[in-house]
Amino acid sequence: MRFPNDFLWGAATASYQIEGYPLADSSGASIWHRFSHTPGTTHEGHNGDIACDHYHRWREDIEWMKRLNLNAYRFSVAWARILPEGHGRVNPAGLDFYKRLVDALLENGITPMITLYHWDLPAALHDRGGWMNRDCVGWFADYASLMFRELGDRVPLWATLNEPWVVMALGYLFGQHAPGLRDLGGASRAGHHMLLAHAQAVKAFRAFAPQNAQIGIVTNLGPQQPATDSPQDQMIATLWHNFINRFFLDPIFRGEYPQAVLSFVGEFAPPIEEGDMETLQTPIDFLGVNYYTRNVLTYDATDAFGSRTVPQEGKTYTEMGWEVYPEGLYEILRWVHDEYGAIPLYITENGAAFPDEPNEQGEVDDPLREEYIRLHLEQSYRAIQDGIPLKGFFYWSLMDNFEWAFGYTKRFGLLYVDFESLQRTLKRSGRWYAEWVASQRFG
Ligand code: FCB
Repeated sequence: MRFPNDFLWGAATASYQIEGYPLADSSGASIWHRFSHTPGTTHEGHNGDIACDHYHRWREDIEWMKRLNLNAYRFSVAWARILPEGHGRVNPAGLDFYKRLVDALLENGITPMITLYHWDLPAALHDRGGWMNRDCVGWFADYASLMFRELGDRVPLWATLNEPWVVMALGYLFGQHAPGLRDLGGASRAGHHMLLAHAQAVKAFRAFAPQNAQIGIVTNLGPQQPATDSPQDQMIATLWHNFINRFFLDPIFRGEYPQAVLSFVGEFAPPIEEGDMETLQTPIDFLGVNYYTRNVLTYDATDAFGSRTVPQEGKTYTEMGWEVYPEGLYEILRWVHDEYGAIPLYITENGAAFPDEPNEQGEVDDPLREEYIRLHLEQSYRAIQDGIPLKGFFYWSLMDNFEWAFGYTKRFGLLYVDFESLQRTLKRSGRWYAEWVASQRFG
């Protein structure tokens, strides 16, 4: 298996999950800071106050990236570190943090990919309705423009939003993520405004960034399959497919929302104003695909959303309860390519949580993760062989971190993090990935 010479070999992280000290140096609070400090929201009240302390240990973390032989690193910027109130007053200390990080990455031959929004909306903006308020489109575009002006000359790859579907569904509809709402109308508005914000940021990007810098969006995708061929199971699988895989991509690539979802939400349809659907089609340079698993679905009248996932016999499940289904990565890349055309793709996240514990020698032996990565790389390679323009792979995550509502209980890292001492240890899978990447890059 020989990947293209210019393939990007990376790992991914997100600001609130790794940085810690979210209020340091005059930063504003985010909705995740507020949410995780609200009793009953996260596992045992875990929060990102310290996380991996990447905010202070970023130099050491770049050393680990070098030991992993990475030539790319995807991370996100905490909006409220840059603009404590979300718009208006700029906080230079916040900007400096990311400037230093980017410079150090470049000095070490590691290509930065910045995600502008990985879920930590400034709390001050949520107080004004956040993503449910159409003004958030302009707030985001202003923040994005500022980042392009400050870093557009040094950062070649930009992603506007991470997984807007998860923000919309878990944040505004099911209430498990910040801001913790259960409001179908609010979710629908938030989704539409996120898409508009993305598009306006892309427009702004064209004005600031050099010709060779690229911008895209990151979406969570995966096959949604019926458990049986009964019409009800097929109906429910098709609905989820439209909801998860098409809701954000159809507007961008086709200028329309999937009809199946519009019919389902009825009066709670997105608040489309004149010209919006043209704006949403603003061309992007690449699509980031986050892939973890598939869902095998059956109709279930007792469930509020009419369905549940069916466990598959003989399959490995991760600590998240997600089936290991590597073929799904190929299937979804193939689907995107066939459905929306030959847009360059990155796997911006792919990874697994397993119950890692250091042994007496202090080593973390995680053969299941090693196998997970290997199987997904095989499927990535298959896609490239079949002519799908896949440009890079970012393992989720560089290190164990704050897994949102699950707190520190789900370990996805190539690096094991001891959350008491904050010491990092390369797992067996990390050693394997480092060797794999070296043989691809230098072998
Ligand atoms: C994705 C998120 C990422 C992480 C992984 C496990 O949905 O983008 O922050 O939580 O799942």
